[in-house]
Amino acid sequence: MNIKRICFQPHEDKRGKLVSIDVGKDMPFCIKRIYYIYDAAPEVVRGRHAHRKLEQVLVCVHGKCKIKLDDGKEKETVLLDNPRVGIYVANNMWREIYDFSDDSVLMVFASEEFDESDYVRDYDEFIHSIK
Ligand code: TYD
Repeated sequence: MNIKRICFQPHEDKRGKLVSIDVGKDMPFCIKRIYYIYDAAPEVVRGRHAHRKLEQVLVCVHGKCKIKLDDGKEKETVLLDNPRVGIYVANNMWREIYDFSDDSVLMVFASEEFDESDYVRDYDEFIHSIK
């Protein structure tokens, strides 16, 4: 699977690092929504769904977690542990997010507003829908 990583170049000086995300330049879509996940216990699995239309970029801005991506043909797991790297998740991609560290903060940039009808929460339905 060809997972797209987006690298953000931090502005660094002796005060620390600052990452700025320019929507037109750094993102493969126009951002309509941003959310973040924190306080996820290490044993939980989040996600477990696909989206019909929504695209996302995930950045673990603090701590770490793993994401397993599945396009119905191939599966690949990526460790998110770098606030300078975003993982692009296209539509029609099953994702499971797990192994959260206690301090993890997962920032998600989304191409659409929240819409429950865009979710495919059943794996068999997902496999069926992409055929
Ligand atoms: P859910 O999408 O199930 O989380 P995850 O993908 O991490 O497993 O969302 C959890 C709850 O939050 C659910 O009740 C829907 C709600 N929610 C919103 O209201 N707005 C949002 O932008 C998101 C992502 C979720």
